Amino acid sequence: MRWPRWWDQLTLKWFVRDLDIRATLIANTVQEPLQEQLAAGKKAKIGAFFARITQDERLYAVGYCASDQSTALASRALPAEILCTDLSRWEELGDHLLSSAQGPLHVAVKPMTSELGPAGKLVLIHDMSFVTRRSEETKRYVFYFFMALAAVVSLITVIIAQLSWRGWMAGMRSLLRGEGLLRQPEAGAQVGRSEFKPIARDLQRLVRELEAETRARDESQIVWTPETLRAILHGELRGEDVIVVSNREPYIHQRRGDSVEVQRPASGLVTALEPIMRACSGTWIAHGSGSADRETVDRHDRVAVPPEKPAYQIRRVWLTAEEEAGYYYGLANEGLWPLCHIAHVRPTFRSGDWAQYVAVNRKFARAVASEAKTKAPIVLVQDYHFALLPKMIREELPDATIITFWHIPWPNPESFSICPWGEEVLAGLLGSSILGFHTQFHCNNFVDTVDRLLEARVDRESFTVSLGGKLTAVRRYPISIAWPPEPELVQKDVAACIRDIRRMNGLPAGQKLGIGVDRLDYTKGIVERFRAIERLLEMKPEWIGQFSFIQIAAPSRSGIEEYQHHEAQVRAMATQINARFGREGPPPIVLKVEHHDAKEVYEHFRAADLCFVSSLHDGMNLVAKEFVAARDDERGVLILSQFTGAARELPEALIVSPYDADQCAAALHLALTMPESEQRDRMRLMRGLVAEYNVFRWAGRMLLDAAAMRRRGRLIGKGGGRSV
Ligand code: G6P
Repeated sequence: MRWPRWWDQLTLKWFVRDLDIRATLIANTVQEPLQEQLAAGKKAKIGAFFARITQDERLYAVGYCASDQSTALASRALPAEILCTDLSRWEELGDHLLSSAQGPLHVAVKPMTSELGPAGKLVLIHDMSFVTRRSEETKRYVFYFFMALAAVVSLITVIIAQLSWRGWMAGMRSLLRGEGLLRQPEAGAQVGRSEFKPIARDLQRLVRELEAETRARDESQIVWTPETLRAILHGELRGEDVIVVSNREPYIHQRRGDSVEVQRPASGLVTALEPIMRACSGTWIAHGSGSADRETVDRHDRVAVPPEKPAYQIRRVWLTAEEEAGYYYGLANEGLWPLCHIAHVRPTFRSGDWAQYVAVNRKFARAVASEAKTKAPIVLVQDYHFALLPKMIREELPDATIITFWHIPWPNPESFSICPWGEEVLAGLLGSSILGFHTQFHCNNFVDTVDRLLEARVDRESFTVSLGGKLTAVRRYPISIAWPPEPELVQKDVAACIRDIRRMNGLPAGQKLGIGVDRLDYTKGIVERFRAIERLLEMKPEWIGQFSFIQIAAPSRSGIEEYQHHEAQVRAMATQINARFGREGPPPIVLKVEHHDAKEVYEHFRAADLCFVSSLHDGMNLVAKEFVAARDDERGVLILSQFTGAARELPEALIVSPYDADQCAAALHLALTMPESEQRDRMRLMRGLVAEYNVFRWAGRMLLDAAAMRRRGRLIGKGGGRSV
């Protein structure tokens, strides 16, 4: 290995300086005994003295030159180049090195400083061969030192790298597993973990932001469509078994002479659930009530619908006349319906009806069990016809997720306590995993009722009820309609609808038109509506002959006496008002007690200047939302009863109390004179709301909650439907 020149020069300089110091020390030591011997003139002794000194390994030779050159003494080996006459050469130049056959020599000339004897100069010659040896040795040691140092440094580097790698790998592994990075390191835990804290914090923040974003999107940005709903079923519920149970079927086959006609019933429930079932192709179990229903099913009592493009199955359940009379007409519609609606019609409860109600609920529970393809289906139980069904399904399918939706209002505890089987009804409903109502007010009423009537634990924080250790979540899901409406419903342009509907009803072309579409039911406030029209014509006679109101009233539950009275009352009132104000011109009221299909209803909506919904009490009322959906021209005014669930969502409507005829008449006048710009502003806001809060959101929210509940249930190992 070649060392740099500067290294040799540096070490030589160090050694020369050391030898200079050594020479000064020797000179100081020897000068006094030397002077004594010089003074004594013992030259032989001086020779021996010099020989003794030069026994030192390094001191090669010694000489003495008197100041006056009179005496010159030297040890044996003094080189010939050193002359007393030429000593200044070695002093002045500072060049202390001399080459000889033995190797390099160091020459030092030191004056005798003591005044005790003769003056002169000492010459001290050091052997420098040791310098080369020492330098070589030093080089070797330095080399070994650096080699060792390099080895140690490499070793330390490898160890540190190894530790860091292990820590990093462990960190990455736990990162991938999503574990523990933010845990405080325990005593003795790997120090490397702390390196991940900043990354973990960033990740956590990112996850939080994403979650928040997803929630926000979920709540306000998702455009709810049939596709969104399908995606939920495929993603969140992985194509699980969805079964709907309702009394009314979505397609009724009726015999008309030789042919079979398919009828769509006038039911808000059916209006809402039909698009859901089209989207998720499940099974809909319902009472087969049509005269040709039995002819159209297969041997499993199933029929694929819609007839023109089958998307799901109806499973029909057959009821005897006694069952229908007791369960449907009796308990459901003479008992529970008036019990839940504040319409001042007394509920009638008969024990025979109750027995049929129990039996029919049991029949449907068996149908659900036979239609379920898995042990844990999602069952959507609809309405007051099936208050006992959730508990019965739970007995047959303990792991089912049962979502019950009560489409009508829930009364306060005092009103509900009228029902002789109130406790059974509540216990039946509490078989549900989730129990839904349209409004928070009805959720509150239900929870208050349970609190008052049952030995159940009510948690008002989480809005859950626990009965016998089983939990039911009570939730608000405001129902709605499909958005956008099916294209064929809004195909005919508004001008054509205005023209055709007037012509069809024998009304003049410029006639102002109001529309009402309801089942012929006392809760709909049709009598109150007619009274308001009469009042308008009394208060604002300028509208006589200028304004007509078409009331479409679908016959409903006509086997019930109360409904027969109501129909008679409605008919009589229309006749009386027409007689009073329509004798000389177009009638103020056009009453059409017949079934209209959705297309005809939409045509009427599009032709009208106003729509009047005057329910005395209504869970939601989808007619209000359908009118809004029909008006893509952003015209028309909605007058809406404050006692509908819809009034909470559509404050841009003219909100009225149907009991206040004067107020309703004023609203009618306001609607008929409302500037187009105001109509547009109100309609735009209402359309925005219905578009966003459509029926796909209603079903989607329920199904998402059910999916979350099932996930949680699986996690804590308690089965699919019970934990909330
Ligand atoms: C209400 C009920 C529905 C029912 C509908 C029609 O909207 O909530 O469950 O289907 O009225 O009544 P109907 O007795 O003819 O089925």
